[in-house]
Amino acid sequence: MKKILIADDAGFCFGVKRAMNIAWNEVTSTENEKIYALGPLIHNKQAVAKYEEKGLVTVDEIGQIEDQSSKMIIRSHGVAKKIYDEAEDHGLEVVDTTCPFVKKIHTLAKKAYDEGKQVIILGDASHPEIIGINGWCQNSAIIFKTLEQFKEIDLDKSKEYLVVSQTTMNEKEFEKIVEYIDKLDMNINIENTICSATRVRQNSARKIASQVDAMVVIGGRHSSNTQKLVKICSESVDTYAVETKKELEGVSFDTYEIIGVTAGASTPDWIIEEVIDYLSSL
Ligand code: F3S
Repeated sequence: MKKILIADDAGFCFGVKRAMNIAWNEVTSTENEKIYALGPLIHNKQAVAKYEEKGLVTVDEIGQIEDQSSKMIIRSHGVAKKIYDEAEDHGLEVVDTTCPFVKKIHTLAKKAYDEGKQVIILGDASHPEIIGINGWCQNSAIIFKTLEQFKEIDLDKSKEYLVVSQTTMNEKEFEKIVEYIDKLDMNINIENTICSATRVRQNSARKIASQVDAMVVIGGRHSSNTQKLVKICSESVDTYAVETKKELEGVSFDTYEIIGVTAGASTPDWIIEEVIDYLSSL
């Protein structure tokens, strides 16, 4: 191997970087005090472990937090309104790291619901971000993932609708839906709430994959945005999906001239640097 190319946009997006910085400040500024995270901070167990070493405790639900008046971190995906209420009832201090782009969708969903409109969400119903958004319109949203599913929704001409999207949704699918809705004679307001960080990362991965002989994609196995990068890269070249540099040990890169590197939005810089250092040492 002669050369390593690194994607221009790889690793933490703005929202995750912001959330992780806020959480880091919290865990490092308090001594002997437990700080709780409601759900894993990000889909990267190495990064989460670093925070847990500093005293962070990850819980699945508020009921698991026994210490009253402790701090609870809400992660960048955001949560439903009822979680804020529950936290208050438990006397917890909320450290809210919800990404501002997700927060904006909460505001849109709540406003539409309060105005009597039906909220429709393009997204994955089981994803925490969607569960959170739905919680701002009293769990009344219609959730769908494809144009085919949208066509099956029983729309009512006398109603007003708001369509929003999961921030990481595929833009092509969204465009198809907008095109379809434009042809309907219905009162449907569409807000494109897809975050550009996903597109930028995917374009950057596609570009670099076309210039190299093999790609290394770094990120958590459960990180959907990382898995999308793996799919994009593997359409062009041999692709190695790893969580850390350890998984590359023993892999022979001898037959490749140029290796490209990219990473999902939940991969910290230090893990990316370790991989690049390892590849450089070969
Ligand atoms: Fe926020 Fe976009 Fe990242 S919504 S968490 S900046 S992918």
